[in-house]
Amino acid sequence: MRSFFRGRDLSRVHSIAELAELARHRLPHFAWEYLSGGAEDELTLARNRASFSEVHLHSRTLVPCHPPVTQRRLLGRELAVPMLIGPTGYNGMLHRDADLHLARAATARGLPFCLSTVSNVSMEAIKAQVPDVNLWFQLYAMRDPEIQASLLSRAQQAGVDTLLLTSDAMVLGNREWDRRNFVRPRELSLGNKLDVLRHPRWLRQVMWPNGLPSMGNLEPFLPPAERNALGSMKFIGEQMDTLLDWSMLARLRDQWSGRLLLKGVLHPADAEKAMALGLDGLVVSNHGGRQLEGALGSLDALRLIAPVVRGKMALLLDSGIRRGSDIAKALALGADAVLLGRATLYGVAVAAEQGAGRALDLLHEEFVRTLNLMGCADIADLSPDWLADVHAHSIYRG
Ligand code: FNR
Repeated sequence: MRSFFRGRDLSRVHSIAELAELARHRLPHFAWEYLSGGAEDELTLARNRASFSEVHLHSRTLVPCHPPVTQRRLLGRELAVPMLIGPTGYNGMLHRDADLHLARAATARGLPFCLSTVSNVSMEAIKAQVPDVNLWFQLYAMRDPEIQASLLSRAQQAGVDTLLLTSDAMVLGNREWDRRNFVRPRELSLGNKLDVLRHPRWLRQVMWPNGLPSMGNLEPFLPPAERNALGSMKFIGEQMDTLLDWSMLARLRDQWSGRLLLKGVLHPADAEKAMALGLDGLVVSNHGGRQLEGALGSLDALRLIAPVVRGKMALLLDSGIRRGSDIAKALALGADAVLLGRATLYGVAVAAEQGAGRALDLLHEEFVRTLNLMGCADIADLSPDWLADVHAHSIYRG
């Protein structure tokens, strides 16, 4: 794909795919693979996109074109468009202050920003520097209950009212590129070191002056000498709880007084269990195809889960959103809102806050145009009746 992007003229970037292509050129190879790659043969990564492309919008005609209603009330807050920036760890590999840039871009558009446990910028710093942020926090459960309790109380102090527990990463997915690119933790292979030297802008943007950043939320738990990238990676490797189960989620429900969502749900039976525990919502997600290879595409899973959940708790989806029409399809199949992962990360890698903002604006504009072309005046009207699967000659209903 040819891009006519010059300098910071982001108005010349017309799609998330184009932002991705620019990010690919700007990042060293290992960072690009970290951002874009999936597990093993990337079948699930590909399925996420395929599951969207197989669903067709069944538009109505001769519906006058007015700005469609895209506002939605989600978990007590009004959103101009039902999307938010989802949690992604170690964004500092793309841009030193990527977490802050993402938080600013989301906040400027009235959208929530979800910070990962393994972010580089701490939740306190996000709150201090972006005071108006609608901050969500994603929790990786910790083995040490005191560490987990401390993370939760800090999140509450930082104004977080919505917590996402990620349940699909108890062991790391098989990301072969990661093992290829590093000879040992944080030590790049020779080929990758040479490749890094070919990316002076990235070196300036990420590595200068202090090298790869540590994980801000975890720093208070680290001895001063280990408050660095390697120390925090070692810490999270030791602390992430691999014995997570439903009883832990029940305890978390008691422990956390704010809203609690489970992220990484693909099975309707799990959706039922989460409802029985009194959770406030689910994120249907396969972690962007980075975890279980062979997992269902996110939209495939939504189709199974929505009939169980719809109207009883908030139903969110991520994994594969790259176009405004994807948002329309997810909403038609029962999602209340979508989370963005790589879409906004491509933007931040290209041009910090402006790049992330461009990704959000592109998706918003595409979403509005899609609704107009569908003849859908209000997202509240979206339902499976707006979709058709031309291959199966079936219409989705209910
Ligand atoms: C992630 N994701 C993720 N999820 C999470 O709960 N905690 C985390 O720290 C991370 N880290 C992370 C890093 C990177 C580089 C990526 C791409 C993804 C998963 C993320 O929240 C989301 O589920 C996916 O990104 C959605 O897929 P798409 O839209 O990026 O394809």
